[in-house]
Amino acid sequence: MPTSSLNPHLPFGENKLADWYGKDIISVKQFGRDDLEYIFGVAHEMRGMVERVGTFDLLKGKILANLFYEPSTRTSSSFTAAMERLGGSVIPINEVKYSSVSKGESLPDTVRTLECYADVIVLRHPETGSAAIAAKAARKPVINAGDGIGEHPTQALLDTFTIFEELGAGQVDGMTVTMLGDLKYGRTVHSLARLLSLFKVKINYVSPDILKMPKEVMDEVAAKGIPQAEFGSLEKVLPETDVLYVTRVQKERFEDPAEYEKVKGAYVIDPAIMKAAKKDMIVMHPLPRVGEISVDFDEDPRAAYFRQMEYGLYVRMALLAMVLGKA
Ligand code: NCD
Repeated sequence: MPTSSLNPHLPFGENKLADWYGKDIISVKQFGRDDLEYIFGVAHEMRGMVERVGTFDLLKGKILANLFYEPSTRTSSSFTAAMERLGGSVIPINEVKYSSVSKGESLPDTVRTLECYADVIVLRHPETGSAAIAAKAARKPVINAGDGIGEHPTQALLDTFTIFEELGAGQVDGMTVTMLGDLKYGRTVHSLARLLSLFKVKINYVSPDILKMPKEVMDEVAAKGIPQAEFGSLEKVLPETDVLYVTRVQKERFEDPAEYEKVKGAYVIDPAIMKAAKKDMIVMHPLPRVGEISVDFDEDPRAAYFRQMEYGLYVRMALLAMVLGKA
């Protein structure tokens, strides 16, 4: 794992670039606070460049294979936009049913094929651990864009970048973050809880009883000394919350559809409920939403979920540039 190989003869940024060049991005466990500082610095510069010139040639001639075995709108299109804004190009494989996967090709063989044509592979797959399997098979960098209920590291990075940009980097230590909804099957919250444990935050988990945060994640977060508490309703914790992270109930991951029906409308954020929240907090959501946040709340300045998507573009530009050695 690329963590503590700092060369004292190189400035911080060049050390970090050397650390990440050619690396896979599989789990948020690969990142320390110094990595975040570097990535967010690069992402901030990417934002400035996009605003000034739109597209530039940092990754000209480089090719990304975007391999998606599960549906995606934001992750897939933001990686495509990121690569194209950096002057590179993309092989999109969104419908694996039209590829050799439908003939029974294994993931390692598909990945070995794509790396003959591409410089970096972004993979979304329904099985936990699939990104690590792909990374083992590939010589080129593999970026995990969601492996089942496992992790979604690039989402957690863009979520944390959103918190930094919206509330101020200096404010993260001391913050209260409340995660709401499907904490059992939601991979975004599994990654985000782990990543935020690098900071002195307090984390509240609000979920139906059958959708609680897995013990494995809570144990890892506890080992970092982070206070955590679980609740069945939002009422008690909303007034102290600085970041409310709302998630969708992951219908496709339920074995029993009747169980989904029981919990699907468990929480709905709307302007009336948000009267109890602070004025300077933010509401985030990885999206898509399916009713957990009322559209009536969208105009509220605290509604950060659309801005969050845009931050994702800059973070993914930074990550592609880093693993391709050009940040
Ligand atoms: C999330 C995912 O795929 O895990 N979406 C995303 O990448 N923005 C969240 C979800 O599907 O609910």
